[in-house]
Amino acid sequence: MGESTNITWHESGVTKQDRRKKSGHHSFILWFTGLSGSGKSTIANAVAHRLFQEGINEYVLDGDNIRFGLNKNLGFSAEDRTENIRRIGEVSKLFVDSGQVVLTAFISPFIEDRKQVREIVEENEFVEVYIDCNLEECERRDPKGLYQKARAGEIKDFTGISSPYEAPENPEITVHSDQYSVEECVDQIVAYLKNENFI
Ligand code: PPS
Repeated sequence: MGESTNITWHESGVTKQDRRKKSGHHSFILWFTGLSGSGKSTIANAVAHRLFQEGINEYVLDGDNIRFGLNKNLGFSAEDRTENIRRIGEVSKLFVDSGQVVLTAFISPFIEDRKQVREIVEENEFVEVYIDCNLEECERRDPKGLYQKARAGEIKDFTGISSPYEAPENPEITVHSDQYSVEECVDQIVAYLKNENFI
């Protein structure tokens, strides 16, 4: 891939602070990570709905959807996953700059890739949410039938089966989606955001 040269960053006259003031709230990334079938998308969308109802400008970036468009040229090798997360991180940073809360629901299996995203934004702009669900339960749910295919060798490099998942070591929030309902997980996440004055 080529690299851009002779480019200049343009500052817009309106600042992030101006946009936050207009939104009436802080802007940040709520970064969900977890195994396929752990409930990332379901919980992220339910949190987004709750935020929307509270008048917060929010937007969800979701694994499958982004791979239909922006990242349609990427597969599931370690290298492609890293590039997937890098691009999503950059897009998320733009959402933060626009004064919104962006919720991202990607497996994002590598600690280093998530750290890279954390590092391109400011300290209070990245909240990592670990959707902790044991592999047996994810496999039992198997909402898309992908684990079955992975076990049968029909999908290679499948997270948790033939490709690694590195759980966060120090996430801001952990919810146990194999022990609590979606609503309970949403309550726990929203409570954290309120306690820590993110919303
Ligand atoms: S990653 O690892 O963050 O780049 O993955 P992500 O962009 O979140 O995409 C995960 C969804 O792609 C489907 N899928 C696979 N997942 C894992 N491994 C392999 N090999 C794979 N192939 C396809 C699957 O539907 C994932 O969706 P979720 O919502 O996580 O179940």
